[in-house]
Amino acid sequence: MEAEEDYKRKERIALIVILVVASVAMASLLVAFIYYCYLTNKLSRRLNNRKRAELEEKVGEFSNIQVATEKGLQVFTFKQLHSATVGFGKSNVIGHGGFGLVYRGVLQDGRKVAVKLMDRAGKQGEEEYKVEVELLSRLHSPYLLALIGYCSDSNHKLLVYEFMANGGLQEHLYPISGTNTIPSRLEWETRLSIALEAAKGLEYLHEHASPPVIHRDFKSSNILLDKNFHAKVSDFGLAKIGSDKAGSHVSTRVLGTQGYVAPEYALTGHLTTKSDVYSYGVVLLELLTGRVPVDMKRAPGEGVLVSWALPRLTDREKVGEIMDPALEGQYSVKEVVQVAAIAAMCVQPEADYRPLMADVVQSLVPLVKLHRPTSKVGSCSSFQATQSPKALELGL
Ligand SMILES: Nc1ncnc2c1ncn2[C@@H]1O[C@H](COP(=O)(O)OP(=O)(O)OP(=O)(O)O)[C@@H](O)[C@H]1O
Ligand SMILES: [Mg+2]
Repeated sequence: MEAEEDYKRKERIALIVILVVASVAMASLLVAFIYYCYLTNKLSRRLNNRKRAELEEKVGEFSNIQVATEKGLQVFTFKQLHSATVGFGKSNVIGHGGFGLVYRGVLQDGRKVAVKLMDRAGKQGEEEYKVEVELLSRLHSPYLLALIGYCSDSNHKLLVYEFMANGGLQEHLYPISGTNTIPSRLEWETRLSIALEAAKGLEYLHEHASPPVIHRDFKSSNILLDKNFHAKVSDFGLAKIGSDKAGSHVSTRVLGTQGYVAPEYALTGHLTTKSDVYSYGVVLLELLTGRVPVDMKRAPGEGVLVSWALPRLTDREKVGEIMDPALEGQYSVKEVVQVAAIAAMCVQPEADYRPLMADVVQSLVPLVKLHRPTSKVGSCSSFQATQSPKALELGL
């Protein structure tokens, strides 16, 4: 009897143990299953997100290209541009700037182009490239260099521009250091029309583009001349980029080029269209004097163009002293005095005192108009002779 009871007790204990073990096993299985479901769910969500991001990126790229092609930009393959530039041969190199090398090229349809090959790896370069394409696809003016198309694959980024047979303005004003090029002599009336056309390019960016575009790197090498010495402003897309966020890295491009940067922008980073007006004034001084903006090899007091020229600009007696000797006195003193007055207004240290580009244009129009019958400027027929109130205010 006792043995039977003992047996039954043991049987109960065994049953309880089995039940406990079984329920623990079940519970662990359930936990493992839930954990498995959680993991697979998380993984598939991550995969889906990545796929979506890739898809969005592709759609983004596609829509950019779509927008660009809709706006008349051509999309080139690397192969097409390789053959247009004779394999990016050394003899086709026409310049080298912040973006990379610039090549002369001929497209299959016979059009001459300038091809810029990006040599800057990394995110900033990519970003600049993208903005250049997007910006240039929507800005059109006879005074801005036209972007014809681009090539963008995983390894190469290229921009294809209209070809400007006479290159950068600076090449005609002074010899470029490191090269043996001899500057051609630009006549006074050609200088005047270049000044007007470049002013019209900036006026378009400031007043006709919406939202307004600040060039940030306006300088003589970014004024290109076609075979008839008509001027177009270039590189406004690249110059526009750059972070203005407080505390972010300030690149050289954001700061512009030495000698052209408005004092308030250099000191505070505060950028307005008036910063471009200052740079324009420096270019006017280059046209008047044939001097580079900064040349520390010059005599003491003459190294910085603005500081040297400014006191002489408004002095009728002294303005002749600053004139480019290459002009050999072949200019009207009256016109020189007027252009010098515009330059003096543009390089005012106080941004508010500088004129708008529209005022500069209105002040230069009558001067260029005077030369129309004999000058090389063919497109002056659309210039207006009337002066704006501001132009009159400037006493021009
Ligand atoms: N569309 C073009 N047609 C003819 N020559 C060009 C053209 N674009 C550029 N060049 C030549 O290439 C040179 C270099 O141009 P690029 O714009 O790359 O550099 P940069 O103007 O000297 O400096 P940055 O990179 O600061 O603009 C110019 O000075 C000009 O001689
Ligand atoms: Mg340039």
